[in-house]
Amino acid sequence: MRKKVTVVGGGFVGATAAQRIADAGLADVVLTDILEGVPAGKGLDMLEAMPILHSDSHVTGISTATGDYGPTAGSDIVVITAGFARKPGMSRDDLVKANFGVVKEVAEKVAKLSPEAILIVVTNPLDVMAQTAFRASGFSKHRVVGMAGVLDSARMRAFIAMETGVSVENIHAFVLGGHGDDMVPLPRYSTVAGIPLPDLLPRETIEAIVARTRKGGGEIVNLLKTGSAYYAPSAAVYEMTDAILRDRKKILPCAAFLEGEYGIKNLYMGVPVLLGAAGVEKIIEVKLGAEEKAALDKSAASVREMVDLLGI
Ligand code: LAC
Repeated sequence: MRKKVTVVGGGFVGATAAQRIADAGLADVVLTDILEGVPAGKGLDMLEAMPILHSDSHVTGISTATGDYGPTAGSDIVVITAGFARKPGMSRDDLVKANFGVVKEVAEKVAKLSPEAILIVVTNPLDVMAQTAFRASGFSKHRVVGMAGVLDSARMRAFIAMETGVSVENIHAFVLGGHGDDMVPLPRYSTVAGIPLPDLLPRETIEAIVARTRKGGGEIVNLLKTGSAYYAPSAAVYEMTDAILRDRKKILPCAAFLEGEYGIKNLYMGVPVLLGAAGVEKIIEVKLGAEEKAALDKSAASVREMVDLLGI
C-alpha cells in the first residue's frame, strides 16, 4: 500500500520537505497551511513536476484556515513545521510561547485523524515543541520524535568535510543535546573514515568546527535576513521519513523522550535513536566524560526551563 505523509506548514521548510519526499516517490504527500490557496498551488505545482521526475507520488495542498484537517486522515507520518520562524536577533527560545499554541492545536487535530501516525516535529524551539506534541497527541513516546540532531550533525559533517577535504560520505558527526546554542557536538564520536576527529585535526580547528555547528542555524538566519534555513532542515526531515517508512533502523540523532537515559528524566532531548517503522525503537546510550556530561546537563537545563514555563 502507498504511504501517506502529511506536512503541516507550507513555508520553506515544509514545502521543501514535501518536495523531497514527493520527488523521491517515497509517499503521497498532503501539504497543509493556514493560508488560502498557497498550499493548493504549491501542491499542484509539485504534482505537475512528477512526470518529469519519474515519481508517482500524489501531492495535494490544503488550507486549514477553517481548522479542517480532514484530508490528512490516515497518514503514516505527520511532519509538523507550522509556527513562526526566527528573525535576526531572535533566539530559538524566544519562539517558545508563540509556537506552543500552534503545535498543541495541530498535534491534537492530526492525532485524532491519524491515530497510527508517527509525528516528526520540526517547529522551534525544537525539543520543547516535540514535548508539546507528545503531550497534546497522547501518542506513545515512540511515535513522537523531533528533528534537529540530523540537521546539526549534517552541518558539522559539512564543516569537517570543508576542513579535511574528504568526501562527506566518509564523515560521521555526533551531536547531542537540545537544538539550541548549547547543543553538544562530540568530536570524540565524530569520525573521518572511522578515525576520531581528535586524532586528525588540531584542537583549535575542532573547537572552531564545534562553535560553528552550535551557531549553524543563526549563521543562515543572519545571511538570509528574512527567514531561516530550509534546504538542510528539509533534507533532515527526508532522511528521518525514509528511515521510518522503509524501516531502515538507522541510528540518527533525534529529539526523543528521555526517562532516565543519560541521567535525564521526563524531557525531550537530542540523543542517538534507532529509527524504524515503529518510530523511536531504541535510545542508544554512549559513555560520556565528565565535561561532556556537564555540557549535556547544561543543555537539558535550558530545555527544562522552557518546559517548566509551559507546564508540560
Ligand atoms: C536552524 C533553525 C531553523 O537550525 O533552528 O536552522
